[in-house]
Amino acid sequence: MKHRAIVTGGASGIGAAIVERLATEGLDVGSLDLSTGFDVTEPTAWDAVGAVEIACLNAGVLGGPADPAEIDLESYRRAFAVNVDGVVLGVRRLATVMPTGGRIVCTASLAGLTSIPEDPVYAATKHAVVGFVRSVAPSLEKRGISINAVCPGIADTPMLSDISRERFRSAGFPLLGADDVAAAVWVALTSGETGHAWAVQPGRPPVDFRFPRVPGPRTADDGSVGAPPSFS
Ligand SMILES: NC(=O)c1ccc[n+]([C@@H]2O[C@H](COP(=O)([O-])OP(=O)(O)OC[C@H]3O[C@@H](n4cnc5c(N)ncnc54)[C@H](O)[C@@H]3O)[C@@H](O)[C@H]2O)c1
Repeated sequence: MKHRAIVTGGASGIGAAIVERLATEGLDVGSLDLSTGFDVTEPTAWDAVGAVEIACLNAGVLGGPADPAEIDLESYRRAFAVNVDGVVLGVRRLATVMPTGGRIVCTASLAGLTSIPEDPVYAATKHAVVGFVRSVAPSLEKRGISINAVCPGIADTPMLSDISRERFRSAGFPLLGADDVAAAVWVALTSGETGHAWAVQPGRPPVDFRFPRVPGPRTADDGSVGAPPSFS
């Protein structure tokens, strides 16, 4: 029997390229997209999702303007709902229905690894996705499920306005193709890693991004302290 896969936001851009790539790899792929009646922000929509071996939580939208004084409440809430709730609700459901060996890849963004002054709300949502993926990985690992994030740079998809596309073109700045991102998703899915973030840029293989260690506490006698005990 073919392995089953779902891709959120699979009707356009990167999601459509992931659907195509997974089908080429021999999977039985379903797209869950707003345009075909599946809203990732609706908790009850996820109840209908059954067992799949692979899930790509990819649906996403932009956040809003650079100037915080101009942030529109509806767009702000929409961005968090689609980009963050859509991932958390998906992972919550998949944790209960995915078989051992299940693999999840979330489409974050380079905006989850670095600052994006042009759209701080979008950056906040994608930092949330990266933080969630890294933090939830150990619990999912206990269930035999892996989770990774891909963090693409700018990709030429319908998310990009014609004005932006033209600006990048005239500046000679290379853009990713949606199929480049789909190839990186496949690398992340087959990496054997979990809790990692894969940076994706034109002309490079996906980079397994390394985060710096955060500073730990110091004791009065200036000794170092190990990792903290578990909260729970
Ligand atoms: N295009 C880029 O430059 C770029 C760069 C890095 C990351 N990303 C991320 O890649 C992902 C895909 O973006 P894209 O560029 O292909 O955009 P896109 O606009 O081409 O496709 C997004 C898809 O998500 C669907 N969608 C939106 N809201 C939804 C919802 N509530 N429920 C279900 N589906 C919903 C849309 O209908 C659409 O089919 C997003 O998470 C985006 O943030 C894009």
